[in-house]
Amino acid sequence: MQDSFSESPDADATAKPVCRVLDGAPVWPPPVWMMRQAGRYLPEYRATRAKAGSFLDLCYNPELAAEVTLQPIRRFGFDAAIMFSDILVVPHALGAEVTFQEGEGPRLSQTRSMEDLERLAPALPLEKLAPVFEVLQRVRQELPQDTALLGFCGAPWTVASYMIAGKGTPDQAPARTLAYRDPALMNALIDRLVEASTAYLIRQIESGADAVQIFESFGAALPPILFGPLSLEPISRIVAGVKAAKPGARVIVFIRGSGGHMTQLGWNCPGDALGLDWTVDLAHVLPTFPEHLPTQGNLDPLALLAGGEALDRGVDAVLDAVEGRPHIFNLGHGILPETPVAHVERMIERVRRAAARYGSG
Ligand code: CP3
Repeated sequence: MQDSFSESPDADATAKPVCRVLDGAPVWPPPVWMMRQAGRYLPEYRATRAKAGSFLDLCYNPELAAEVTLQPIRRFGFDAAIMFSDILVVPHALGAEVTFQEGEGPRLSQTRSMEDLERLAPALPLEKLAPVFEVLQRVRQELPQDTALLGFCGAPWTVASYMIAGKGTPDQAPARTLAYRDPALMNALIDRLVEASTAYLIRQIESGADAVQIFESFGAALPPILFGPLSLEPISRIVAGVKAAKPGARVIVFIRGSGGHMTQLGWNCPGDALGLDWTVDLAHVLPTFPEHLPTQGNLDPLALLAGGEALDRGVDAVLDAVEGRPHIFNLGHGILPETPVAHVERMIERVRRAAARYGSG
């Protein structure tokens, strides 16, 4: 059984609830996974992390990265596993220096001039990312048949904003300033990332991913005149490139800070599915979207952290709004490290109990 499954990874895709939703079918109760589901809130992650050395050592260790990818699947039975890695392995493979300081977040060498850009590789050296592809292959062998495997990359604007500032910034001021002062450099950097991300996602799908997610974590910072050219359009080019190479590929586009751009997005979704952050009022917005547009989200990670009634109310608000639509239950952003495991259990149980709640199974 496992063997034939691994030989033809796509044969059973329709058995996977996450894939059925991404293909446009409403599934009830909605399938569920969490952004950053492999992470520090799990004691077993912290134990593996302690064995790995640096965070990047963990990302590039196929055995340990596969292990932490599978930990939340074993513990909670999520409907999707997301490969353990980071969006910043792409600039790292292109030649930028990347380190993760404990408690400080990522630090990168800055890309602020054409000379800086020219020092980076012209095309993504895929061999440097071989450990990531091996993680997908390993996880694929271990997953239950109805659990989808997800790959991912960062959207060009989000990754570019880290490369320009050299670190995370509250409103991406260095990258926005550069976009205004030196559009030629900004476009060249975005183009480099579009090409790199396209090649990266294609190889992830070849390595066994059922779907890929593009993370636009910094969509909120962009004014409307830059949102199209720096976010939507580059993401659309990645999606078009991936689909040209892999016609059946499924792409989820998660945009944090999508609220202000909602009308553009509902009818112009650059991927197959739209991931929404916790500020979006699903009850209000979903009826304005195309009926078969799959969506994903959007419980506030702080409601999950708080637990109790706040959590139950948050879960119910999502469930009420998505009934009858193709939707994947998720958070509106990554789970916070302080979140109690018991709250995650409570969330999943409440989502899965929704089958009985509406009696539609
Ligand atoms: O979702 C998953 O479980 C897969 C793993 C995953 C990680 N990062 C692991 C990680 C994914 C999908 C990411 C994406 C990512 N990385 C994004 C986009 C999503 C988002 O959160 O907005 C961004 C912006 C990054 C960049 C990044 N990586 C930051 C800002 C940090 C520091 C955050 C912190 O809390 O310290 C990281 C490090 C990181 N990536 C950790 C994990 C589990 C924590 C590091 C550790 O374990 O020591």
